[in-house]
Amino acid sequence: MKKKVTISLLPGDGIGKEISIEAKKILNWVNKNTSIDIECTEHLVGGASIDKNGIPLSNETLDKIKHSDAIILGAVGGPKWEGLTFEKRPERGLLKIRKELDLFANFRPAIVFDSLVDSSTLKPEIIQGLDILIIRELTSGIYFGEPRGIEIISENKSKGFNTLVYTSDEIERIAKVAFETASQRSKKLCSVDKANVLESTELWREIISNTGKQFPDVELTHMYVDNASMQLVRNPKQFDVIVTTNMFGDILSDCASMLTGSLGMLPSASIGFNRNGQKKAMYEPVHGSAPDIAGKGIANPLAMILSVSMMFKYSFLRNDISELINSVVNSILEKGYRTKDISNNNEDYVSTSQMGDLVIEGLNNEKT
Ligand code: IPM
Ligand code: MG
Repeated sequence: MKKKVTISLLPGDGIGKEISIEAKKILNWVNKNTSIDIECTEHLVGGASIDKNGIPLSNETLDKIKHSDAIILGAVGGPKWEGLTFEKRPERGLLKIRKELDLFANFRPAIVFDSLVDSSTLKPEIIQGLDILIIRELTSGIYFGEPRGIEIISENKSKGFNTLVYTSDEIERIAKVAFETASQRSKKLCSVDKANVLESTELWREIISNTGKQFPDVELTHMYVDNASMQLVRNPKQFDVIVTTNMFGDILSDCASMLTGSLGMLPSASIGFNRNGQKKAMYEPVHGSAPDIAGKGIANPLAMILSVSMMFKYSFLRNDISELINSVVNSILEKGYRTKDISNNNEDYVSTSQMGDLVIEGLNNEKT
């Protein structure tokens, strides 16, 4: 018996569209070769939605994606929409999905594939074997705090302001996810804050510590974000799981991505639970829409393909399919295939669609 699942695919803007085509190849392969029966529908988000509907996310789309079993998103944004007022910008579409679906736990793994050790700007011994996980709080903090805005104070003076706010329950739920995850890995959790300066993260530290009492087998450490950013580059292997606030997680995950060689390699999963405790999740590459390379067929689809792999693991509990995709990606890299971003020799690289086809070829070979 096939298990029916529904997936909403939101390609978005820029390279989001190209890499989504590669994601669909994987979904089709899974449809044909496993017991999962995927029904995939496509929807507009970001600039693509602004162009058609005047807003970055329509209520119809929001309603449809709320009812699907998982969401895959490409990327949003681009220079075309930069002049728009804040509420109309493409990024608001993405942030609205995160908030409306309450996808509060964002998993951003940074794994260095052995064959890509030389693609990183860091020395091989610093990054070889690196496998860390940043858990970023995704629906609160300064991204969503009120009041916010830009106000005119006097004729030639204005004020821009945002609020960094966390409630104890918001901290506690991300803490639990982080401790549970750490207890299934190497039982080390580092919480990153700025508790020496910001009260909201002083509370963060207190609640994380208190929650930790329920997880005595996990070794908890705390680090200020400025130090953490330095340590991530100096000696990243000291970390295993990092838990942090929305904005610090945004910044640290871009930093962690470069340890792995390219932002084009990093997948992510954003997870929440509905009232019945059922998992809701969206999967997206950490990189953005990269308008400078969009349409050229040179984007790296691997962050997207690895995000699809995370979906099989977290949403459909099919670790086997997830592991299969990961091992195929690994062996393609071992064989020396590279997209432009990870190729040291700029002349010799495969296109976005060739990389997707290589993954399909690898999956077919594994099957037989
Ligand atoms: C990310 C991105 C987003 C964020 C943008 C596109 C709103 O940078 O997912 O890391 O800041 O969260
Ligand atoms: Mg970011």
